[in-house]
Amino acid sequence: MDKKNAPIGVFDSGVGGISVLKTMTVLLPHEDFIYYADSAHAPYGTKTAAEVQRLSLDITKRLLSKGAKAIVVACNTATSVSISMLRKEFSTLPIIGIEPALKPAALSLPHPRILVLATPMTIREEKFHDLFVRFDTEAEISALPCPELVELVEAGKLQGSEVDQVLFDKLSPFDGSVDAVVLGCTHYPFLKEAIRRVFRHEVTLYDGALGTAKELRNRLAQRELLTNRTANGKVVMENSLGEAEAALSEKLYSLFSPDME
Ligand code: DGL
Repeated sequence: MDKKNAPIGVFDSGVGGISVLKTMTVLLPHEDFIYYADSAHAPYGTKTAAEVQRLSLDITKRLLSKGAKAIVVACNTATSVSISMLRKEFSTLPIIGIEPALKPAALSLPHPRILVLATPMTIREEKFHDLFVRFDTEAEISALPCPELVELVEAGKLQGSEVDQVLFDKLSPFDGSVDAVVLGCTHYPFLKEAIRRVFRHEVTLYDGALGTAKELRNRLAQRELLTNRTANGKVVMENSLGEAEAALSEKLYSLFSPDME
């Protein structure tokens, strides 16, 4: 098969990266995608860096064995600890990661108050520290680890009283004191309506999905790897927990409405 028409491999610790997948399929509708959700090992955010690196390497090899022409790490946590290792290991392959969308949030207002929600690992790692230092003078930034939210989404709980209670407990202390919330984990955009409801004042939510999708498009274009097909591409979804998770993946994929601006 012409390399241009090979699929794009995408992975996350679980179903969260489907928020990024959906955004990429809207931006690049003619491409084929293979999405691998590692729900058997979710959450990644409370593991060690070495464990997440090993899982990221195994999944990348699996996606390459299926002919992937590029890899998207649709997971902030795996990006923060594995992207350099993957780029070293597969030096000729386009590998695109995702990071918390602090930049657009910091530049949205004069000195905004920003709350970054992410996994404990993302917040602890050097990549986030560098990002924090870069925008620290532009904004007042707080970071809050939210591993509980990953568990809700992995269990298919996107709304209802349990979701509202968990979000209220975590986020209500910030009600009235933030202008923007950065969803720095790809699971969180599935809870965006419920997150918004916790705040009684207007907050703007930011996530990195569109930035990642645009970066993918640019990197494929630079290497002349964009498909030349004109029909809509196919999306194949796999899960390390097996077929039982297919219904949840399909549901998340069909209900998610990406933010394309
Ligand atoms: N969805 C992932 C992220 O963007 C990780 C969630 C987890 O497994 O802890 O960070």
